[in-house]
Amino acid sequence: MVKTACHKEGLFIQSNGDVFPCCGTWNKPNMKIGNIRDNDLESKIKAFSAVCKCESYELVSGSSELGRYKEINIETSYACQATCAMCCVNAPESDGYYNNENYLALMKLLKLTNPDNIMVQGGEILVQNETMNWISQVKQEMSKSNITLITNGNNIKKVEYAKETFDNIQVSFVGFQNLTYKTLMGLDIKHTFNFCEQIFNSASSNLFIKYLLSPLNLHELPLFIEWSMGINPKGVIIHDSNTSGYINYKTGDDYWNKIIQRTREQIVKTIHNNKHIHKKYNFKKIIIGGNNIAKLLQIDEKYLKNNKIDDFIEIQPVNYRFINSFESDSYATKTF
Ligand SMILES: C[S@@+](CC[C@H](N)C(=O)[O-])C[C@H]1O[C@@H](n2cnc3c(N)ncnc32)[C@H](O)[C@@H]1O
Ligand code: SF4
Ligand code: SF4
Repeated sequence: MVKTACHKEGLFIQSNGDVFPCCGTWNKPNMKIGNIRDNDLESKIKAFSAVCKCESYELVSGSSELGRYKEINIETSYACQATCAMCCVNAPESDGYYNNENYLALMKLLKLTNPDNIMVQGGEILVQNETMNWISQVKQEMSKSNITLITNGNNIKKVEYAKETFDNIQVSFVGFQNLTYKTLMGLDIKHTFNFCEQIFNSASSNLFIKYLLSPLNLHELPLFIEWSMGINPKGVIIHDSNTSGYINYKTGDDYWNKIIQRTREQIVKTIHNNKHIHKKYNFKKIIIGGNNIAKLLQIDEKYLKNNKIDDFIEIQPVNYRFINSFESDSYATKTF
């Protein structure tokens, strides 16, 4: 665990404009630094202090001046075309309202912090016309920053805009078979495959893909892994929604432990069957982001080694400051 001034290296801006040191703290009132529209936000950031620890970091106050930030992580409107059953921001229930004064205030904050990486996410940005216009302006005014989009990748009509605008595009998957995807999210997975392929073939944007585990899609993880090895994106990450919270492990037939064991074995088989792809593409590792998923899948370093898949899968602690990152700090740099 690294001691660091989280709030002087990165910030998370919630859709309502509230400012936190990272996206792992938005539900803790004592971790709110201020609001994007506060006139004295800069001095609030400088003076911020709190007791906070997570799997990766321990927050310290740091120096009194602000240097160049690594990442500003911005939530815009919660407007979204999907209806994900597990959406952590309740986008499907949102009316999509966004205070347009935030755009000006966000630009001011970006100029103040001059971040290596500007990460943007909704809701779904690729259905938000005003947000997309604002991001085009950010691209012009913040030319030294990378811009990273987190998207469901389903609005294929905006693929050209995405390629022109973003250095990094991370597409989230909530399942791998069409009916699962549709049941969880209300959309057709074919558009997302098409989107990913077009981004992968573009010279301008790096493609990252992410699988969000939940009970309905857990057994489809091997299919996702096989596909992701085949398209060779810059990075593949697996995160968890709240799988253990949704599951009842204590049934007489041991249902979930059986499903998990079978899934784990299928992951090993899938990776061995596709090892040739590793040689062809020099495939990057699949990152298991968070010890909770390792625990859920009952996979640890020893299991990876014993099954000879430690070259393909790596378990990393949850990193709230670079939640969607694959190589942590290096994600924020232009060169990969
Ligand atoms: C709220 S979404 C907004 C961006 C975009 N609509 C998407 O789904 O990628 C931002 C990220 O949160 C993740 N997410 C959604 N629900 C979650 C949950 N219950 N637990 C953890 N992550 C979740 C998504 O997979 C996505 O990577
Ligand atoms: S990165 Fe960890 S220690 Fe730092 S503010 Fe977030 S939760 Fe706290
Ligand atoms: S696509 Fe993203 S924002 Fe939209 S409902 Fe799903 S998780 Fe929420």
